[in-house]
Parts: sequence; structure tokens; C-alpha cells
Amino acid sequence: MSHSGFFITFEGSEGCGKSTQIRLLADHLRASGIDPLLLREPGGTPSGEAIRHLLQHAPEGEALTAEAELLLFAASRAQLVREVVQPALAAGRIVISDRFMDSTTVYQGVARRIDPAHTAQINGFAVGSTLPDLTFVLDVDRATARRRMSASRDKLDRIEREPEAFFDAVRQGYLALAKETPGRIVLIDASQLVEDTSRAILEAITAKRPNLIRTPPADACPP
Ligand code: TMP
Repeated sequence: MSHSGFFITFEGSEGCGKSTQIRLLADHLRASGIDPLLLREPGGTPSGEAIRHLLQHAPEGEALTAEAELLLFAASRAQLVREVVQPALAAGRIVISDRFMDSTTVYQGVARRIDPAHTAQINGFAVGSTLPDLTFVLDVDRATARRRMSASRDKLDRIEREPEAFFDAVRQGYLALAKETPGRIVLIDASQLVEDTSRAILEAITAKRPNLIRTPPADACPP
């Protein structure tokens, strides 16, 4: 789809620091006079938030099969794309989503071992031509991720309760996907200091959209 906005997605395993980096990026954009639209998946619409609850916290979701889980993530995304993302991009906005279709490729396709042909087909049906312009995969080692996750949560959701091998598969899945998709996906070492990770993200955005983030010219500062 041709649009005048810019669509950025953040991906990575639990505890990779996505929320912090999205907050810092949004602060930088606002300082450049841009009001970004911040979204999360699953969710971001009234029906999507209900699906999120079923997928993560509701007792009714405990027995979901991998196939039903895949379709519910896709349903939330299909709604979000048409109700929110497409109109915002058409209006020229910068849209930032905490997770998008790559989460399905990796969590359901790799970690849940659903045939990747199915995840690709269902992702394609859900998003149509609305692909991210730029995707950041934030990579951290599992020990760091576990530490960050337990610091930020008092109660684990259905997926966070998966065994360590599941999250190893998620991490390897993202690394492989980043390698296969170099034009869109930028792999970021998120075990660095928060501000270094943030700088790497800003540099990658500037490389793709040179004038998006304005920093005051050095000579604009009073002596
Ligand atoms: P989060 O918003 O805290 O990252 O939680 C979302 C959870 O859902 C996380 O465990 C990743 C998982 N997920 C999938 O398994 N597939 C998907 O397509 C999406 C969007 C998320």
C-alpha cells in the first residue's frame, strides 16, 4: 500500500526492553514535533483488547490449542490494521506497534511449531498490504530477559509461563527471521545500556527516513 505515514514495529522475546525503547522513541519524536500513534498487539481496538484478555489472562483461554491461538492473534491484527493502522498511515501519521505479524511467525510458527506455510498465509490474510516500513528486533540473552521480566511482573500470563526451551526457540526464531529479512528488520543488541540501544534505534530510523527525527543543529546553541 502506498501511504505517506511511517509504520514501525518492535519485536523480541519477553524482557527484551521493548516498552522502554518505545517510550524513549516516542519522546524523541514528540521533541521533533511529531505525535506518534502507539499501539500494542494483541489489542489496540475494543475487540482486540477482549481477544488479548482471552489469550493472556482469562481462565477460558487456558485450554486454547496452538491453532486457535494463531487465529485469535490474527483476528486481533486484522481488526487493528483496518480500524486503526491503515487510516492513521493514510493520514500521514507515524505508527509504532509493540509487536505485529513477526510475533506470529516466531511464537506460533517457530516456538509452537505450526507449519510456517500456515503462519505466512494467515499473516498475509490478516495484514493485506499493510507491512511495517521498519521493524526492530530487540535481542537479549535469556538470563537478562528473565531478570527484566521478573522485575516488571508480579503475575505471569499464559505465554510467560511457558518453559525456558520455548523462549530459547523464540530468540532463535527472531535471529533467523532478522537474517532472512534484512531490508525491513534491524537487529538491535538490547543488552547494551538503555541509552545506547535507543541511539541505535534512532540511527536506523534516520538511515531509512533522513528527516524524520530533528535534532537541533549544533550551532543553534547559544555560546
Ligand atoms: P506482551 O504484550 O506483554 O508482549 O504480550 C504479548 C504476548 O503474546 C507475548 O507473550 C507474545 C505473544 N504473542 C504471540 O504469541 N503471537 C503474536 O502474534 C503476538 C502479537 C503476541
